[in-house]
Amino acid sequence: MGAFAYRYGVLHAESVSVNEVARAVGTPFYLYSTAALEAHYSAYAGAFAGQDAGVCYALKANSNLAVIRTFAKLGAGGDVVSVGEMKRALAGGIPPERIVFSGVGKTREELRAALEAGIHQINVESIPELEALSAVASSLGVVAPIAIRVNPDVDAKTHAKIATGKKENKFGIDYDQARDIYKFAASLPGIKPVSIAVHIGSQLTDLAPFRAAYERVAALLHQLRADGHDIQRLDLGGGLGITYKNEAPPDLADYAAMVRSITGNLGCRVTLEPGRSLVGNAGILVSRVIYVKQGLHRRFAIVDAAMNDLIRPSLYEAYHGIIPVVEPESGSALEPYDVVGPVCESGDTFAVQRPLPPLADDDLVAFLSAGAYGAAMSSTYNTRPLIPEVLVNGDRFAVIRPRPTVEEMLAAERVPDWL
Ligand code: LLP
Repeated sequence: MGAFAYRYGVLHAESVSVNEVARAVGTPFYLYSTAALEAHYSAYAGAFAGQDAGVCYALKANSNLAVIRTFAKLGAGGDVVSVGEMKRALAGGIPPERIVFSGVGKTREELRAALEAGIHQINVESIPELEALSAVASSLGVVAPIAIRVNPDVDAKTHAKIATGKKENKFGIDYDQARDIYKFAASLPGIKPVSIAVHIGSQLTDLAPFRAAYERVAALLHQLRADGHDIQRLDLGGGLGITYKNEAPPDLADYAAMVRSITGNLGCRVTLEPGRSLVGNAGILVSRVIYVKQGLHRRFAIVDAAMNDLIRPSLYEAYHGIIPVVEPESGSALEPYDVVGPVCESGDTFAVQRPLPPLADDDLVAFLSAGAYGAAMSSTYNTRPLIPEVLVNGDRFAVIRPRPTVEEMLAAERVPDWL
């Protein structure tokens, strides 16, 4: 758990009591640790320190401005997938020359905004996108530095919904078309291919699929150079998986050594786009038990967080550790609970028959490993306001996104005058 640990019988984030934050902001809320964010970033940057490599934080994992700012201060770049994320990256202090723009469906408006901002590289995923980008670049009188994302047809061995590198996935261009498409790209007036990009999926806990994908990229690089392209960079996609339960992701040092063994002699600058591994275990979701409902068949802990706040269990059957905020007495017997939210769907379930220490109404619980793809994927389903995000730094904490009121939510909507 790192930055989150029991002290004097109460869960703390660094030196701040989770109880204290709950009193100040109400539940549910996300709570992040600066020390953990910094440690995770430094571990990445440190592992690749001897290589010509840059870390572009994948904002989609957690796009809160304060989180972006924390990484920007450490020198991070950003991987963005929309003009909204690009604006966040810039507002968070990431300079344009450290921003990579990825995504399978960037609009012409987004491509224009990216070129106007002067970002480092656009990762293109199709022929029509190449044509659109070339036209937009020419209209602006610039040449766009691009990578083409190739789909290496490698099984990432992760959840099907977050695997992206198989030939049936929508991402990238088919590996066997790559030479032709680079040739076409180079013929366009507004395009300069400078890089190859690859990303095969998220929450990978084994190096083998990464290695297979990178070897294919290296082989392609040789072919492209032989074809006369001046490729100087490789974009190796997202980072390592994390431990939610008992996964054992590879050491960063081993990952970096593997990257070096494949790319070390290629004379290319390498970009890494980790998201989850920088933020996932730097955040928790704190929630209050509304009721414990003992039925004939099941015991339910009904909590005030729901699938709209943390959708990963509903969407991917993802496991998140659940612990009480007040440390259970040692040796207290575990009992099976279904931990559920108040939303009117059976899918609003965080855990089924999870052995937990005895819970009572009003108890606080923490969902662990919730810093990645938690707040960033939340919604207001059931007119539940987005929940606050709070950042701890040592013995201080700050609300980095306040909870809107329902009145503010309603004020954002319009009823036409003919109603
Ligand atoms: N680069 C690209 C092009 C990506 O598509 C992604 C993630 C990343 C980098 C960052 O990957 P990471 O280091 O976080 O593994 N919502 C899902 C995860 C979706 C990941 C999408 N792409 C979840 O909650 O598990």
